[in-house]
Amino acid sequence: MNNYKIVLLSGDGIGPEISNVSKKLLSKLSEKYKFNFELKEELFGGIAYEQKGSPAPQETLESCKSSDAVLLACVGDIKYDSLSRDLRPETGLLKLRSELNLFANIRPVKIRRSLLNASSLRKEIIENVDLIVVRELTGGIYFGEPRGIVNISGEKKGFNTMTYSASEIKRITDVAIKITKKRNNKICSVDKANVLEVSQLWRETVEEIMKNHPDIEFSNMYVDNAAMQLIRDPSQFDVIVTNNLFGDILSDLAAMLSGSIGMLPSASLSNDGPGVFEPVHGSAPDIAGKDIANPIAMALSTAMMLRIGLNEPNAADNIELAIDNVLSKGFRTSDLIDKDAQILSCTEMGEKIIQEI
Ligand code: IPM
Ligand code: MN
Repeated sequence: MNNYKIVLLSGDGIGPEISNVSKKLLSKLSEKYKFNFELKEELFGGIAYEQKGSPAPQETLESCKSSDAVLLACVGDIKYDSLSRDLRPETGLLKLRSELNLFANIRPVKIRRSLLNASSLRKEIIENVDLIVVRELTGGIYFGEPRGIVNISGEKKGFNTMTYSASEIKRITDVAIKITKKRNNKICSVDKANVLEVSQLWRETVEEIMKNHPDIEFSNMYVDNAAMQLIRDPSQFDVIVTNNLFGDILSDLAAMLSGSIGMLPSASLSNDGPGVFEPVHGSAPDIAGKDIANPIAMALSTAMMLRIGLNEPNAADNIELAIDNVLSKGFRTSDLIDKDAQILSCTEMGEKIIQEI
């Protein structure tokens, strides 16, 4: 029987609530699909700062590196906003991404049939949406140097650097190509090449690579237009490949097509080591501790972990099917607008999903 070493980082805010659901899910699935797993819970984010003085303590990073996969809930809280940048939960997340070399962030946006009416967009616009944002995750303006806030002649000035090397652009493009070949053979590369040199290099590099793949329908799009097109006609997209910052923004935007950001999972992958699987949403401190969070994005991230990280596709399929069944029976969490639905707590939603396994 396979035995997986999974590290669970519950983090902050609603993290522990949605993590509880995933823990129960994994137990149930391991019985049904006959695998063992060892779940190691480690401190990460604001809670790690409070207990260990660092948002990404060394022992947490070491555990993650020696695991088969990392399941991460979410980090952050307004109460940490006044900390110096290196101590903030978000910096811990960036450190984890960087130390594990998780350069490829995969964010699938799939519309679940029973949630067609939960989106703020009309049903006709979203019904055929099935796209993946492939976001570069360890470069760009998130990590570029120089950066800082300086004082120049009595006035403060803040600056960051958006930088990409051709090899960084190539390796994320290669990931997008691999993904689209198993899908609809369509890639849209999003940049701001009309203004930024870094985007000009991005575009030239991607175009050069795409010459070797004439079977793929390829296009370039400026990021402002891409934002508009994602709202106007989102089903035109298959795979979107873009840089760290644009991918961050466009993936939140694309999440809302699915009804709620509480529905979107993601996978962050390197070329060899363990991946990190986490919901796209944040820690929602405003609803933390109330047991009303939507555990579905976390459950779908658990499915991505099983599928991509642990090669247990049947267990992954089962989670997705269970979620669809629960939703089609009219059960919702409070973030999903639907007038006839029965609203469940986070725990209850978790129980309903587990009953369907
Ligand atoms: C995300 C988040 C993070 C990001 C934050 C929490 C640092 O918004 O994963 O999309 O900007 O990458
Ligand atoms: Mn984001």
